[in-house]
Amino acid sequence: MACLLVTGGAGFIGANFVHYWMNEYPADRVIVLDALTYAGNIQNLAPVNDKSNFRFVHGDIGDTKLVESLLRTENVDTLVHFAAESHVDRSIAGPDAFLETNIMGTHSLLKAARQVWMTEGLNPQNHRFHHVSTDEVFGELTPEEPAFTEKTAYAPNSPYSASKAASDFLVRAYHHTYGLNVTTSNCSNNYGPYHFPEKLIPLVTLNILHGKTLPVYGDGSNVRDWLYVEDHAYGIDLVLKKGKLGETYNIGGVNEWKNIDIVRLICRLVEEKFATDESLKTRFPDCPASRGEANDSLISFVTDRPGHDFRYAIDTTYIRDELGYKPKVTFEEGIRKTLDWYLDNEDWWRAVMDGSYQDWINTNYAQMSR
Ligand code: NAD
Ligand code: DAU
Repeated sequence: MACLLVTGGAGFIGANFVHYWMNEYPADRVIVLDALTYAGNIQNLAPVNDKSNFRFVHGDIGDTKLVESLLRTENVDTLVHFAAESHVDRSIAGPDAFLETNIMGTHSLLKAARQVWMTEGLNPQNHRFHHVSTDEVFGELTPEEPAFTEKTAYAPNSPYSASKAASDFLVRAYHHTYGLNVTTSNCSNNYGPYHFPEKLIPLVTLNILHGKTLPVYGDGSNVRDWLYVEDHAYGIDLVLKKGKLGETYNIGGVNEWKNIDIVRLICRLVEEKFATDESLKTRFPDCPASRGEANDSLISFVTDRPGHDFRYAIDTTYIRDELGYKPKVTFEEGIRKTLDWYLDNEDWWRAVMDGSYQDWINTNYAQMSR
């Protein structure tokens, strides 16, 4: 039986990881530490909140003393670090929060882990600090270049990816210098339930339903490698159980799509849904499909993201050969499941989008933080 401290567990991937883990390992204890920034949503944890082996703590990863005390009192042996500022566009508009959380916050966690596990000797051997990072640290690829491997040199291009690269190096340094038991995974673009609607796939999905413009940056030819979020959780699971200490593992979907093709695909899948379910026309009267029109009429090519990385792609050979990793969910299946989730969880996204969610946090988090 393990005790996990999951930072950022109220965010998109962190929450999916918590659901995955508590389902796979029901005897383990899971503690989520999350500051509930605009991207954190305690409702993402509602399905597990009543379980006796789950605890939510509202707090900042930069609060080293709080983290030390959690590690001690809960006898945590595994820390899985998701907490971050994660949106590239926000990092371009205002980099400071990214440096504070992604670099200083990660360092605060490393210090706490070293202090409690190593200096105080609570868990000198069997502890693990797993750091969740991104493929963006490798920079961008041309259409012809081979996909990123674990040996690809770091070349981050945005304030977001630069801050993640810095955090990766700190994690590496704490292993090399102090002997902290660390692993790192660098993953490609995730999609699935609870994805915050500022990111491409949920943004496009919800804008189609509301008949709003679909903003495609530049000419839409930029390429991303999409992975269903549960398959990211599965990859981290394998790294935690079988990964080599001090090692980094690339996780990806081997599933490259041009942005414009993803946008057109979602337009088409929504049309299919409207053709088979009449009630959608009543629920979403502004969607072009409600009037029998093409959803892709909403596409608008807009000014490109400054410094927009052209292409990301992950070579998964190492994690496949070393740990036996292979994504379980095909893109066809995953994107349909995701669309169904958004159609079935209107309350979730309406609360997120109309801002009432923040009021909800203010009145409710105190009860959940125990
Ligand atoms: P997200 O923005 O949806 O969630 C981030 C979570 O961290 C939120 O719950 C937020 O409240 C919390 N948080 C932020 N600052 C905090 C702080 N100072 N203290 C405590 N909690 C804080 O992000 P996500 O998309 O779920 O990404 C999770 C991690 O995975 C990040 O480290 C990101 O870099 C990495 N990653 C994301 C993707 C992707 O496609 N989204 C791909 C690869 C790697
Ligand atoms: O590659 C992993 C990364 O994927 C993670 O590290 C980041 O945390 C995560 O946010 C994601 O970054 P991207 O910038 O790739 O994701 P985003 O959804 O913001 O954009 C995907 C692509 O779509 C990108 O090329 C920009 C483009 N885009 C995005 C938005 C929000 C548009 O064309 N229009 C949009 O409105």
